[in-house]
Amino acid sequence: KTYKIGVIVGSLRKESFNLKTAKALIELAPKSLALELVDISGLPMYNEDLEEDTPKEWVALRKEIKAVDGLLFLTPEYNRSVTGVLKNALDVGSRPYGKGVWSGKPGAIVSVSIGAIGGFGANHHLRQSLVFVNVPTMAQPEAYIGGAADLFDAKGKLTNDSTRDFLKTYMEAFEKWVITNAQN
Ligand code: FNR
Repeated sequence: KTYKIGVIVGSLRKESFNLKTAKALIELAPKSLALELVDISGLPMYNEDLEEDTPKEWVALRKEIKAVDGLLFLTPEYNRSVTGVLKNALDVGSRPYGKGVWSGKPGAIVSVSIGAIGGFGANHHLRQSLVFVNVPTMAQPEAYIGGAADLFDAKGKLTNDSTRDFLKTYMEAFEKWVITNAQN
């Protein structure tokens, strides 16, 4: 069986280290995981009033998330928390109340930062929201990727062997997590 995994990157930057890490994870993933990047760049800011005539971008995101078996989040850290763009995507997918599309999908979080703490604050703030939207989030191994500016070459390829080994192990653990917790 193949499991569809939505990969959600919380940075809109072309040269995003989170995006580069996401691409490395996609390459390193076990064969049973079919990973696809979810585009969250064009989502209007969440406003309950808009549900009367739901923006097409929200409809598309909700549809895309409903169709996946699991979720892999790559989060930058902005001011010790997640980015607004990532939080907005979570909010959009969580409504209307009781119909949230995240619910029950096994997830995992990789935080990536140029700093030494590896986005720990963002990683754990994201866990807090994922508890509420009912995403069973893998506890171990944890992934805090620090010093990200030194991990990639000019083409965006991972150059650090120990990081590559770690990310491979991480994806193997995530595969087990998905197999154990996927709903269908
Ligand atoms: C940052 N950055 C940052 N880094 C960190 O480790 N902790 C933090 O709290 C912050 N805060 C922060 C706020 C804002 C507004 C910006 C723009 C940046 C630096 C951040 O790690 C760096 O910009 C990364 O490159 C962002 O991830 P991407 O875009 O490379 O994926």
